[in-house]
Amino acid sequence: MPTTNILYITTIIIIIILFTTTPTTSKSTIEPCSTTDSCTALLSYTLYTDLKVSELASLFQIDPFNLLSANSIDISSPDVVSHILPSQLFLNIPITCSCVDGIRKSVSTHYKTRPSDTLSNIADAVYGGLVSADQIKEANEIDDPTVLDVGMSLVVPLPCACFNGTDNNMPAVYLSYVVKDVDTLAGIAARYKTTVTDLMGVNALGNAAVEDGDILAVPLSACASNFPRYASDYGLSVPNGGYAITAGHCVECSCTPGSRLYCQPASLSVSCSSMQCKGTNLMLGNVTVQQSSAGCNVTSCGYGGFVNGSIITTLSSSLQPRCPGPQQVPPVIAPPTMVTPDMGLAPAPSPFQLGGAPIGGLPGSVVPSTSSSIAFPPAANGPSGSISGACTLVNPISSFSLVMVLVLFLGLVFPFL
Ligand SMILES: *[C@@H]1O[C@H](CO)[C@@H](O)[C@H](O)[C@H]1NC(C)=O
Ligand SMILES: *[C@@H]1O[C@H](CO)[C@@H](O)[C@H](O)[C@H]1NC(C)=O
Ligand SMILES: *[C@@H]1O[C@H](CO)[C@@H](O)[C@H](O)[C@H]1NC(C)=O
Ligand SMILES: *[C@@H]1O[C@H](CO)[C@@H](O)[C@H](O)[C@H]1NC(C)=O
Repeated sequence: MPTTNILYITTIIIIIILFTTTPTTSKSTIEPCSTTDSCTALLSYTLYTDLKVSELASLFQIDPFNLLSANSIDISSPDVVSHILPSQLFLNIPITCSCVDGIRKSVSTHYKTRPSDTLSNIADAVYGGLVSADQIKEANEIDDPTVLDVGMSLVVPLPCACFNGTDNNMPAVYLSYVVKDVDTLAGIAARYKTTVTDLMGVNALGNAAVEDGDILAVPLSACASNFPRYASDYGLSVPNGGYAITAGHCVECSCTPGSRLYCQPASLSVSCSSMQCKGTNLMLGNVTVQQSSAGCNVTSCGYGGFVNGSIITTLSSSLQPRCPGPQQVPPVIAPPTMVTPDMGLAPAPSPFQLGGAPIGGLPGSVVPSTSSSIAFPPAANGPSGSISGACTLVNPISSFSLVMVLVLFLGLVFPFL
């Protein structure tokens, strides 16, 4: 019947138009969670303007020394918290990743609105695309985003992942990386010393295509701690080549590639509880070696966590075939004053072409886009429920395959087309 056919064809064309003209949606990885525990995660962030270390720290409501340590910036340089960081500097922001409504996210950041702020300028500029205007709107139940009162405190939900602190059974810290238009998956993998396969597995990507604005969970290999559960810094994990400051700014822990967590007194003049290993004259971080006929007796005074305001030290001895060289720690940099390409801080395009990477067959830890509606109710414009310009959750492959199904269906119904 011709009328029915015309109806069909119109409906299908409308549906196709709906799918293909949906505003470019960014995808991001959703990690379901059930426990109340949290982990430390990192955010990739490009400064939108010159900011003092203290101002940047308060933008994310984090400790300024944690921020500096996470970027291997020398915390002992004078008045470092008032140092002005240059616009466009690329930094890692350490945040606490919690479990909220069944998914991993960070909700400890609040933003106080200023005159002439808009949700999209807060999302895209101030928070560097880590959040979308729609997500801020939803998180704060804002009915009319065109009217923002000055001085409002907005919750800024930020993406993060824990994945049990491991990747392929090795300790890992997860970085939420905002993809830039120059990026390729291979470039991101090379830059963060991981593989395309691993990134595809972690992020449940069907192919290696990434787009400007996507947010990827990038596993950074790390040194894990084994502090007791009652320690306030339980679960501390430091990415390779990086630092973390703990125990009330008294202890600084670092992770040298291929080695274990190494902690020593931090170079800040704060009053700290004793850092001496009981019954010895060894201080936290000291390692002594004693050559004997049986080998090398290595004794070290390590860090065992921060408990009730006390620094726990642990003395350990082991007999090793050869004496280790002097303890190596990752290099620290002076507080940056300008952005230079050789700093290793700016995003890098792919150093090589990607050739037919295998489809990620790693243990899936990512929910399909549809179930993420738990956290982000679908926007009205998306028939599939998974397309909400906002967010985080869309895997374009799903809408693409739906279009393909419709096209095939169209072909079947109207073979003459
Ligand atoms: C998390 O990792 C630990 C080992 O590091 C393992 O024992 C535990 O079962 C893992 N938990 C989950 C939920 O995978
Ligand atoms: C022990 O550690 C303290 C603090 O880091 C340091 O000042 C001292 O030189 C170290 N001593 C030895 C013998 O390594
Ligand atoms: C190694 O040295 C420590 C202290 O220097 C000592 O207590 C321990 O007995 C020594 N171990 C061996 C196997 O020699
Ligand atoms: C910490 O201190 C409280 C009270 O001061 C005590 O009850 C608790 O057992 C202490 N915890 C540890 C692990 O020592």
